[in-house]
Amino acid sequence: GGGRTDGARGLRFAPVAPNKDDKVTIPDGYAQSVVIRWGEPILRGAPAFDADKQTAKAQAGQFGYNNDFLSLLPYKHDQQLLVANHEYTDEILMFRGYDPANPTREQVEIAWAAHGLSVVVVEEEDRSGKLTAVSRHPLNRRLTATSEFKVTGPAAGSPLLRTSADPSGTKVLGTLNNCAGGTTPWGTTLHGEENFNQYFANGSSATDKRYGIGAAATERKWELFDKRFDVKQEPNEVHRHGWVVELDPYDPDSTPRKRTALGRFKHEAAQPRLTADGRPVVYMGDDERFDYFYKFVSSKRMKKGTSRAAREHNSTLLDEGTLYVAKLTGDSPATEIDGSGKLPNDGEFDGSGIWIPLATGDKSFVPGMSAEEVYIFTRLAGDKVGATKMDRPEDVEPSPRTGRVYIALTNNTDRGKPGKAGADEANPRNLNKHGQILELAENWDDPAGDGFAWRLFLVAGDPNDPATYFSGFPKEKVSPISCPDNVAFDPYGNLWISTDGNQLGSHDGLFGVATQGERRGELKQFLTVPAGAETCGPIIQDRRVLIAVQHPGELDGASVEQPKSIWPDGPGKIVRPSVVAVWRKNGCDIGV
Ligand code: FEO
Ligand code: CA
Ligand code: CA
Ligand code: CA
Repeated sequence: GGGRTDGARGLRFAPVAPNKDDKVTIPDGYAQSVVIRWGEPILRGAPAFDADKQTAKAQAGQFGYNNDFLSLLPYKHDQQLLVANHEYTDEILMFRGYDPANPTREQVEIAWAAHGLSVVVVEEEDRSGKLTAVSRHPLNRRLTATSEFKVTGPAAGSPLLRTSADPSGTKVLGTLNNCAGGTTPWGTTLHGEENFNQYFANGSSATDKRYGIGAAATERKWELFDKRFDVKQEPNEVHRHGWVVELDPYDPDSTPRKRTALGRFKHEAAQPRLTADGRPVVYMGDDERFDYFYKFVSSKRMKKGTSRAAREHNSTLLDEGTLYVAKLTGDSPATEIDGSGKLPNDGEFDGSGIWIPLATGDKSFVPGMSAEEVYIFTRLAGDKVGATKMDRPEDVEPSPRTGRVYIALTNNTDRGKPGKAGADEANPRNLNKHGQILELAENWDDPAGDGFAWRLFLVAGDPNDPATYFSGFPKEKVSPISCPDNVAFDPYGNLWISTDGNQLGSHDGLFGVATQGERRGELKQFLTVPAGAETCGPIIQDRRVLIAVQHPGELDGASVEQPKSIWPDGPGKIVRPSVVAVWRKNGCDIGV
């Protein structure tokens, strides 16, 4: 509490100090509540959560584990559709007496059902910021590791996507490791399949290696319960994961799509915008040290409205277009980028960039690779064309006010190590523990353009560390920040940033920062999360902030019996990843 409440409009709250309290700490004058927890029943027939009577059947009708990306879509009156990703499971924190060497079939099937996506109607109580889930609403939905997905776009049906269970190469069971995502202007949601590699055992090919598919057994041992997770037995199943999924949450009977035109990699997020003539452009990061940043430009225009014809047309927008990868060049002499994070003599880490086309339809622009190979082995395409190796490109968000695109680069502790790429102007620190945020401006403000200007907006860390940068804002007036991960805009054009893996001795949290005007760079911390948790899914509405508290209690040595967090339900209760709403006690808008 305490502290200055001045700031840019939308950011006038007393910043929360860094701390290690096992709770969600919010500014003075704000209130919070849990919207929904792991295991709460959302489908008809699903039982109430009972930590000691978990079943796969129950979990398939309950809110999944480890909520990550969140989207809120308009529905009616005081109701909205909440869509959530369930990135992964923490079996040791889910099951009493879990034996990692011998998982039971029931535990594995519960984990399958706890992955995926949820759609749940939420409603506002008493015109406050408080939201509650409407359980058993007909629009509520669960998609899990065993639900049916349709593969669409130029690589659908490719021999590289065919398996013994699906000779068509178009029908996949399950979505895994959905991290961040995006909301489209045509009313659907996008979900990035990120670290899908961890579910597959016995990888052997060069492409498996480039994607981090291990050569041995997996930690969860799913391959013992379904042979499709064993690459040796079913070599193409792994190619059917690592895509962007599109879901129509308004149609509970729709089959979600895996969009091959957007490429296959560890998709952190997928954030769309429209060109002046109405074509969607989707920005996407591949969250791995030294991996790339991409965009997809559709060749089709969005149809406005919610008619059946418009919705059918819009369901094809992400199947036709061109996939690009980014190459960035700094404008300062390489000798001034020494890996320490010291600003170059022109006072900015900045430069220009080009979008290198990789493929469009069945045409490849990459020597030695077919278009299908470009879509399915996109990382190798980026390698071949000399894309810029970034410090873990995570979430991305274009400013609705200025069109500038903000990309969170979480960290890269391998930068500059022997045999690894050293610092460059966009990734200016070796052994980068704290990360940075890059601001990209498309040439002529055209999202479909083939070039851009860029500069670093924030170089994260303790403001007392000279190797930090807050767009020139006086550092004594900003909150410390480390490991920016998810990004979102509020209604005033401020960027909100959630963190994953704070290296400054505090729990992770959520921050807001002005991007324009004389307060540009004034970063303020809005909240912190419980022990072991990551802050995900931020949504900043005028009267409400929504976050997903992911993997609370995930700390070395923790288990159900030896919890390292007692959030959200207190001592003796199992720790539960949950969605939290924060609002102003006096009913006013956030931060005004
Ligand atoms: Fe799932 Fe890159 O965070
Ligand atoms: Ca993330
Ligand atoms: Ca420069
Ligand atoms: Ca993360």
